[in-house]
Amino acid sequence: MEIIILPTPADVGRVAASLIARVVNEKPAAVLGLATGSSPQDIYRSLAARVEAGELDVSQASGFALDEYVGIPLDHPESYASVIARDVVEPLGMDPAKVRVPDGRADDIEAATREYDEAIAAAGGVDIQILGIGANGHIGFNEPTSSIASRTRIKTLAPSTREANARFFDDPADVPTHCLTQGLGTILDAKAVVLVAQGAGKADAIAAAVEGPVSAMCPGSALQLHRHATIIVDEAAASKL
Ligand code: GLP
Repeated sequence: MEIIILPTPADVGRVAASLIARVVNEKPAAVLGLATGSSPQDIYRSLAARVEAGELDVSQASGFALDEYVGIPLDHPESYASVIARDVVEPLGMDPAKVRVPDGRADDIEAATREYDEAIAAAGGVDIQILGIGANGHIGFNEPTSSIASRTRIKTLAPSTREANARFFDDPADVPTHCLTQGLGTILDAKAVVLVAQGAGKADAIAAAVEGPVSAMCPGSALQLHRHATIIVDEAAASKL
């Protein structure tokens, strides 16, 4: 694991974006692992600025999102399909046909999740996976107790995660109770992983993920098993290291 501590959240986004840009510049048809949430927003803004400046072309790259809510309409503004389209695909000029999000509305969830992992493998695997981390240590929606070998599957959201994500919904009761998420095993298959975290609210999760034991109780700690994991944090998120 490489740990990079930077002064500000904007620095975190800029440096993480430079790692992703390097992968795409070397391999224009790279497979990107895409995350939602507030943490990666500065990465996407920084990448979009590079695209606008003509320094980066992401049009040949493909993408696989980490997760999606179950039972939310596809066109709901907070479905991860909508968020990825709005925050990533459009500003970066990715080809929407090359970007997939798990199908939280599938009739056969089991088949849909299995097929999602197969599609990632068929694309040659994720070249670089972007990750945030939840205050409870979750990555994707792999809540504490998730198996380190887990694959893409349906999960129940922890009450604390539903509370944290209530800010995106008009009514807290509207936050879905279930989600589909790439498993920890799926995430660990990525060739490189970049996790970003900002703010004191993530300090405990970062300390547990980086310096704690590898444990299902802190899913982020699974990244200690990855050969090319880079953790980029601001000083507040690094304050308990
Ligand atoms: C969300 C997402 C995760 C994200 C995490 C932290 O619910 N499913 O991919 O990393 O929780 O969110 P944020 O970046 O908004 O703090």
